[in-house]
Amino acid sequence: MSVTVRVPAKVNVQLAVGAARPDGFHDLANVFLAVGLYDEVTVTPSPGGLRVTCEGPDAAQVPLDRTNLAARAVETLAARYGRTPDVHVHIVKDIPVAGGMAGGSADGAGALLACDALWGTGATREELLEICAELGSDVPFSLVGGVALGTGRGERLTVLEAGGTFHWVFAMAGRGLSTPAVFREFDRLAEGRDIPEPVASRDLLDALAEGDAEALAATVSNDLQPAALSLFPELADTLAAGRAAGALTGLVSGSGPTTAFLTRDAGTAEKVAQALGASGTCRSVRVASGPVVGAMVL
Ligand code: C5P
Repeated sequence: MSVTVRVPAKVNVQLAVGAARPDGFHDLANVFLAVGLYDEVTVTPSPGGLRVTCEGPDAAQVPLDRTNLAARAVETLAARYGRTPDVHVHIVKDIPVAGGMAGGSADGAGALLACDALWGTGATREELLEICAELGSDVPFSLVGGVALGTGRGERLTVLEAGGTFHWVFAMAGRGLSTPAVFREFDRLAEGRDIPEPVASRDLLDALAEGDAEALAATVSNDLQPAALSLFPELADTLAAGRAAGALTGLVSGSGPTTAFLTRDAGTAEKVAQALGASGTCRSVRVASGPVVGAMVL
């Protein structure tokens, strides 16, 4: 018997970053939007013990050892509910790896939900969210999906309303960026400056609630973008190409290096995707819309 869970990627429409905390993390006001690019995680009982396999264009870059969030999710759930973590986790990966779209977090949330269903633990939603928060700052959102504000280090979620569907184009870069490295660069660039408390933008939340793409484009922001651009200056060319092609705006997704372009409608998204693909400024291009629901057993 197997259980398969489908989990979406995310884009951050606002990522406000506070000063580094004593524990090294940063307080955030992180507005997540789940978009229709998915990983599928299948768990099957495996008498030989826990193992992880992965398929997809980026599979070679996915760690298959205990550092994979899917493996950690299985072990954490098993330890809590007195089980042995003897499952084969297979990931069909479509979310870019080390791309700033929560691909690793998606696999953690997916493996957790899949094992929970396989084992019938009876865990409540709150218990699952607690485990997600232990696994990583973005993992709770991968479980919940939709649109949400993450505070604390991003793991404390408040569900938000979206009044419509937003159409996005994502440009995948030729290499990944490490999230800790981007936060370190943020700290370096912030040295000697006063960093304000991160707060969600009222105008941005209104634009989301109204489903107004133009108003959303005018209010999106990412405090990690200067750090990502500093480590990966070529991303500026991708951003310029997407904007020139007719996107309402472009920004780095999370810690990058994937760049996200918000467009007026699905037709414009296709046109922007074509132009970006031909621009020679990125490795590949995908169109996706959101919000979509979070991790779901298929
Ligand atoms: O929580 P997660 O394991 O995904 O975080 C990865 C890394 O990103 C952390 O080790 C930390 O360097 C950085 N981070 C941070 N502040 C946050 C979230 C992540 O500094 N709120």
